Amino acid sequence: MLNVSGLHTFYGPGHILQGVDLEIKQGQVAAVLGRNGVGKTTTVRSIMGIAPPKEGRVVLGGTDIAGWPSHKIARAGVAYVPEGRMIFPDLTVVENIEVAQRVRAQKWTIERLFELFPALAERRTNKGSQLSGGEQQMLAVARALVTDPKVMLLDEPSQGLAPLVVRELANVITRLRDEGVTMLLVEQNLKLAEAVADTVYIMVKGRMVYDASLERFIEEQDKVKSKYLTL
Ligand SMILES: Nc1ncnc2c1ncn2[C@@H]1O[C@H](COP(=O)(O)OP(=O)(O)OP(=O)(O)O)[C@@H](O)[C@H]1O
Ligand SMILES: [Mg+2]
Repeated sequence: MLNVSGLHTFYGPGHILQGVDLEIKQGQVAAVLGRNGVGKTTTVRSIMGIAPPKEGRVVLGGTDIAGWPSHKIARAGVAYVPEGRMIFPDLTVVENIEVAQRVRAQKWTIERLFELFPALAERRTNKGSQLSGGEQQMLAVARALVTDPKVMLLDEPSQGLAPLVVRELANVITRLRDEGVTMLLVEQNLKLAEAVADTVYIMVKGRMVYDASLERFIEEQDKVKSKYLTL
């Protein structure tokens, strides 16, 4: 569904992505792990066209979208749940979802989203700023889903959430996967990644240095963790 190859991205003189390769199959979840500052967010921003790559391919269902403006990438079916959620604090829950809906959703209608997120349904007229961190995260996911994406990119959704809320988030991601949503999940939270991923990638200094099925990652994880993930 999404095939990224040889991606190179710069911030000014900084050569941040140095040939990123990754693949997500239709209906699967790929997790990208890695220490702080290795380029995980830049990878997602490059796929989304916010930090356009200088070189490389981003093939979505057969079409190379690398270098397209981000609004066009969004229209092509890539949805982005950014680090820090970025919901509108002064808009209500419903309004936050509505502004993201370019055309009327076919699959993920607002009614359906409220079934998926009953806590948001209860708070539909509350402002974004009145929500808890977990509710804000669910709203950020709902806002991405209302565009009926082919692929959803989630950047550290567990950040700042209590363990119980992270478990709820894992349930939501699993449920979406069961519904056929293809996802790229950037995470520092190993438990969340292990609970939902089909494949695991590890990034070091602008490249993917490891990829494996979840089963293999779990078998190898002691070795892999000390090599690539612990400080
Ligand atoms: N807007 C920017 N301008 C210049 N350099 C940047 C910018 N954003 C990120 N960088 C640099 O690019 C590198 C990769 O950053 P990135 O945010 O992609 O890392 P990350 O893996 O997401 O880290 P974290 O785990 O902290 O979120 C870092 O060295 C960072 O300092
Ligand atoms: Mg990041």
